[in-house]
Amino acid sequence: MKQHPIQAAEKYMRKAHQHDSSGHDIAHVLRVRNLAVEIAHHYPSADHYHIEMASLLHDTVDDKLADPQSARQTLLAFLDEQGVSSIDQEAIFYIIDHMRFRKTKAVGTLKTIEAQIVQDADRLDAIGAIGIARTFQFAGHFNEPMWTGTHCLTEMQQLSDIDSVPPSAIKHFFEKLLKLKDLMNTPVAIDMAQQRHNFLEQFLQQFFDEWDIENRTH
Ligand code: ADP
Ligand code: NI
Repeated sequence: MKQHPIQAAEKYMRKAHQHDSSGHDIAHVLRVRNLAVEIAHHYPSADHYHIEMASLLHDTVDDKLADPQSARQTLLAFLDEQGVSSIDQEAIFYIIDHMRFRKTKAVGTLKTIEAQIVQDADRLDAIGAIGIARTFQFAGHFNEPMWTGTHCLTEMQQLSDIDSVPPSAIKHFFEKLLKLKDLMNTPVAIDMAQQRHNFLEQFLQQFFDEWDIENRTH
């Protein structure tokens, strides 16, 4: 018997992400799906099928992880094989293609509520304790240091040109993570983000305190 496309998408995703150690493991995607479904409860008229499909498939075509052209062809073939209509495919790809931070650095860029919801869910998983863990895993995976010690916390908070700081996990907090709470689309995600954001601030304070002690000359 033919599987429901959502179940098939979960299976497809599990295979694509099974060996990931770059911050995009299966658990990340399942959390994004669950967060998106939770947010979508507040939007009964949103298309929950598109939300779930896009959540499950959003990182299978990430250009950081795979050759995006061939990953996209494989995904299109999968959706065809599942009998997903071209209208549904278009809506799902709209979400996947437009939800990324690099493309939407301002609120109000996304046209559909479904894309706004999946983007919020993906962004929530980039902050809080899990977001911190994923950032250090990503940095390790791509051979970036955790921190380079070029600035103190106050300097980092006041810095106008983040591009001048060499790459590191801590730099990523200032170029992206700390900005996410103000980029959430839905009120429910804004509430969830605030608590996770506070945890980022608390973590940074402690991190810089410990870093200073370790690097103080005796
Ligand atoms: P997603 O699309 O799932 O939000 P990304 O591909 O942007 O994730 O990144 C995966 C994880 O790694 C996220 O938690 C993200 O914040 C983090 N990350 C992305 N770029 C960097 C970087 N240059 N240095 C450290 N962490 C990063
Ligand atoms: Ni993701």
